[in-house]
Amino acid sequence: MAVLTWIILLVLVNTDTGSSVMLRKRCMLGFCVSFPEEEIKAEAGLCVVIPCSFSTSSSFTPQNMVWFKCDASKSKCAESDIIFHPNRRKVQDGFRERVSLLEPDLSLENCSIIVNDLTESDTGSYQLRLNGLNYYGNQEGFTFPVRAFVSAKALSQKPTVTVPPLTEGQQGSLTCTAPGLCSGSGPKITWTWTEGGKEEFRFTESISVEKMTEGTWKMSSTLTFNSLAESHDANVTCAVRYRNNITTLETVTLNVTYVKEIKVSGALIIREGETLNLTCSLDSFPPSVLTWTKSPETTETFLQINSNDFCGSNNNSRSFQLERWDGKFFSFKCKNRRFRPIHLYSKASQYDPDGKS
Ligand SMILES: *[C@@H]1O[C@H](CO)[C@@H](O)[C@H](O)[C@H]1NC(C)=O
Ligand SMILES: *[C@@H]1O[C@H](CO)[C@@H](O)[C@H](O)[C@H]1NC(C)=O
Ligand SMILES: *[C@@H]1O[C@H](CO)[C@@H](O)[C@H](O)[C@H]1NC(C)=O
Ligand SMILES: *[C@@H]1O[C@H](CO)[C@@H](O)[C@H](O)[C@H]1NC(C)=O
Ligand SMILES: *[C@@H]1O[C@H](CO)[C@@H](O)[C@H](O)[C@H]1NC(C)=O
Ligand SMILES: *[C@@H]1O[C@H](CO)[C@@H](O)[C@H](O)[C@H]1NC(C)=O
Repeated sequence: MAVLTWIILLVLVNTDTGSSVMLRKRCMLGFCVSFPEEEIKAEAGLCVVIPCSFSTSSSFTPQNMVWFKCDASKSKCAESDIIFHPNRRKVQDGFRERVSLLEPDLSLENCSIIVNDLTESDTGSYQLRLNGLNYYGNQEGFTFPVRAFVSAKALSQKPTVTVPPLTEGQQGSLTCTAPGLCSGSGPKITWTWTEGGKEEFRFTESISVEKMTEGTWKMSSTLTFNSLAESHDANVTCAVRYRNNITTLETVTLNVTYVKEIKVSGALIIREGETLNLTCSLDSFPPSVLTWTKSPETTETFLQINSNDFCGSNNNSRSFQLERWDGKFFSFKCKNRRFRPIHLYSKASQYDPDGKS
């Protein structure tokens, strides 16, 4: 007679999502197994852990375990459905390298498995069999009728690209971290650098692997480069490609702090009665504040140009006009906090009644 009972036993924390997983314990004929209550959600390219624990009556000595994956409608999976077995030759192709136990020590009664390099076809029901010796020392196996359910959807997580502040002339680096903390075949990371709408380079970096907790790994790649003003606004894409060509990517736009030379243009010699029209420009990121001062009459700032107005147009310049001109000589200064001011000395040309000078 089969007596089926259940109790909620354990709460595990899923390291990928931080969410809790409820395990439900069910017993039959002295054999108990705890599986997650709900379907386990996973994404293609990544991995899934099926948390599992078991217990048996003291008259049964477990020796090994076998995992199957088959259609939920079948009451018992077949030998051809084996995805984990101590004898690797019994395992179906396509699962041999992908499924492993989290805890090989059977005495800890932990039957959790990890399936790496998932594809959507790994969706299904997973069944466990315990093999061991019964009270009389004979070989016996018990296949649990309850299953664990896994649902593997298309990959939706994106890589994380961290961009530190970048400054012209200094070394910069970007780090791209692949989603998932899986121990499967490491993904490949490809960096693509696009500047001014043109692809500058593309290369596949070897990945660096950092061990997190037991069975979880952080895979990332760091791109190191010399920051140039020209790279401001460059788009850098990190593409992470898992087995079976499952790819996810993220693009960042770089901000490089830079300042070009300060420039002043316009005629310094003008005729009496004309307007002095000078342009002070500075291409920089972030945009600069430029100020004009007039001397010797005053050191007062009489025009401050906040080139923020031009942010994004890559043209941080503006015309400055001195409307009144009384024929005296003036010197002008155009300056930016980070630059020595540019001094300009303006004078009126000789008065020419014919309008020629
Ligand atoms: C099984 O073992 C793994 C690895 O030691 C551990 O992370 C997990 O929590 C254990 N699961 C159960 C249900 O005890
Ligand atoms: C970067 O990407 C954005 C959005 O796709 C695009 O509008 C922009 O023109 C790109 N910039 C460069 C420098 O290619
Ligand atoms: C992998 O995917 C990319 C884009 O999705 C495609 O261009 C490429 O041909 C694919 N490669 C293979 C081997 O399927
Ligand atoms: C780059 O600068 C713009 C404008 O200051 C800002 O909106 C954006 O968030 C910055 N991007 C990064 C990656 O720092
Ligand atoms: C000043 O010079 C700029 C550029 O040379 C020009 O676009 C603008 O019309 C001039 N302004 C006056 C008042 O002459
Ligand atoms: C900057 O923009 C102004 C007005 O939009 C234009 O007159 C000037 O020629 C531009 N200067 C440069 C260096 O592109």
